[in-house]
Amino acid sequence: MPYTYSTDDQLDRSTNTWMAVGVGLLILMAAVFPLYRLYEPSARADSREAQAASLAAEGATVWEFNCASCHGDTGEGGSGPSLNAKQFLQTATDAQTRTLAAVGVPGTRMSAFSLDFGGPLTSEQIKSVAAHIRSWEDDAPDLPNWREGKP
Ligand code: HEC
Repeated sequence: MPYTYSTDDQLDRSTNTWMAVGVGLLILMAAVFPLYRLYEPSARADSREAQAASLAAEGATVWEFNCASCHGDTGEGGSGPSLNAKQFLQTATDAQTRTLAAVGVPGTRMSAFSLDFGGPLTSEQIKSVAAHIRSWEDDAPDLPNWREGKP
């Protein structure tokens, strides 16, 4: 004798409802990915910008205590070159600035600042001071004699 299932309308309805909810959730989850991809590139750019800004802010302190005495408070120059000059900022890359600060210029008053070369700064501090110097680029003055600093 075949087994006969008893039907339960309430259970049927409840099952259908939950299946519909499941499909809805699935569609929602699938939709989140393209939305995320749409949003993600700008989130990345924003965080890169924020990172550069906080690095430059950190570098401001490093600058004040290690560089300002020769290069001026805002890079305008002194006994050392004017590093806020267009002529410097448009030709030097951050990597070059970091190397110059780390290694110094032998035979001049520009000493090595990296711990690796007997100076006082960590590589993170060197990175931050280069970012600080870079932050002057937007309104860098035109100073053809930037290498001479300022009297
Ligand atoms: C005691 C003075 C003094 C201090 C302090 C000093 N500098 Fe210099 N810096 C100089 C002089 C002088 C030169 C030029 C060297 C030369 O004749 O090429 C120079 C050159 C440079 C240059 C190379 C410019 C170029 O392209 O020729 C960079 C970059 C620089 N300094 C960055 C820094 C940073 C960053 C700091 C702080 C961490 C710093 N300096 C601290 C005196 C100083």
